[in-house]
Amino acid sequence: MSKIATLEIDGNKYEFPIIEGTENELGIDIKTLRAVTGGVTTIDPGYKNTGSCESAITFLDGEKGILRYRGYSIEELADKADFLEVCYLLIFGELPTAEQLEKFDKDIKEESQVDEDMKKILDGFPKSAHPMGVLSSLTSALIAFNPGSVDVDSEEAMYGAIVKILAKFPVLAAWTMRKKKSLPLDYGDNSLGYVENLHKMMFSRPNQTYEANKIVNDALDKLLILHADHEQNCSTSTVRIVGSSHAGLFASLSAGISALWGPLHGGANQAVIEMLEAIREDGGDTAKYIAKAKDKNDPFRLMGFGHRVYKNFDPRAKIIKKSAEEVLGDLGIEDPVLDIAKGLAEVALKDEYFVQRKLYPNVDFYSGIIYRALGIPTDMFTVMFALGRLPGWIAQWREMRLRKEPIGRPRQIYIGENYRVFKPISER
Ligand code: ACO
Repeated sequence: MSKIATLEIDGNKYEFPIIEGTENELGIDIKTLRAVTGGVTTIDPGYKNTGSCESAITFLDGEKGILRYRGYSIEELADKADFLEVCYLLIFGELPTAEQLEKFDKDIKEESQVDEDMKKILDGFPKSAHPMGVLSSLTSALIAFNPGSVDVDSEEAMYGAIVKILAKFPVLAAWTMRKKKSLPLDYGDNSLGYVENLHKMMFSRPNQTYEANKIVNDALDKLLILHADHEQNCSTSTVRIVGSSHAGLFASLSAGISALWGPLHGGANQAVIEMLEAIREDGGDTAKYIAKAKDKNDPFRLMGFGHRVYKNFDPRAKIIKKSAEEVLGDLGIEDPVLDIAKGLAEVALKDEYFVQRKLYPNVDFYSGIIYRALGIPTDMFTVMFALGRLPGWIAQWREMRLRKEPIGRPRQIYIGENYRVFKPISER
């Protein structure tokens, strides 16, 4: 029997259906709330208790530390799949067959050339520009070179737009980094796999033959998979809400990149390394920084700790921690910052403040350490996150459009002045 929630306001009772998800999550369906109550709405800043949609893409259970894409566990995907398979899975709902994957790869490669005029836009940015700002602008600029809006009722048109952005996005990301480092742009090599090609476009030298490093590419592949989707987080909700106005895919993605940039979201991986370096420069006293994080009069937060949804452990952090140790070992890198990270985690995991508030190391705590070991500049860390999150954003945008969701438009409770008579400037 379907469940019902009853709400009582001033003695009047209202009933609302409860929607049950496939993992038995319950959500009170308040679509009719304003209509039946005569205008009562809900208030939930930060949407901590608000479900914005029904989605079949990603399931996560923050209490149990579960993360699954389309039903497959993140642990198995990180271990057995490659990033392109995960892109296909997230976007189209099923793991691809060998033929489907081959076609997908070929179609992406066919779209991998970026219009030469895009370079002029890239050249317009000062070298000091943050790569996330550049990437967001370049993604938006792609619209000018691909002006036709996607016909979302045509699977073929939708597919065309999807392979186009999957192809061009790594080029833009790599170019963003090369421009900053004053390196000539690299057009990639279509004989390489998606992740290897990304690495080549970022790190090739004009006077050297590019040599792939399996340890590095496998680590990158895993990192991209771990970041590929995370249901209705800040950037994904942004992509969905911008797309809900029927702005195109590229415009929605550009907005998502901006949302990801912030240090409370994707920007945390950069902030973690900056924090660890600052602690090292200050003598490596982790206890001092734990105390600062606990001090309510100090705005300092332990970056890479805590998560809106995971209140037990972040399953991605577990995988990444292991991977970070392997990669550093395989590459023979000894990084004092990793020792500081380990020290911080050990103390915080036992500290009453962090235990009580369920603040555990999140995915960003360790990802920065691997990126650093792979030679990726600190201000490119969040771009790496965006590269990973791209299929998730696309999948969520596609789902939103196919489900014909209405435009996103939250309500508010007004707390400003009541009606006032206009005062001419001479009387103010
Ligand atoms: N360091 C110290 N205290 C913290 C931290 C932290 N990193 N995170 C949360 N707290 C404390 C808060 O001060 C608050 O304490 P109080 O109850 O005494 O007031 C309590 O824990 C709850 O914190 P909220 O901010 O309400 O939790 P919320 O779910 O809104 O925020 C967030 C989650 C933004 C991730 C937060 O934990 C944070 O700022 N972490 C650091 C930034 C970070 O690592 N972000 C990456 C997130 S993962 C991702 O985007 C991929």
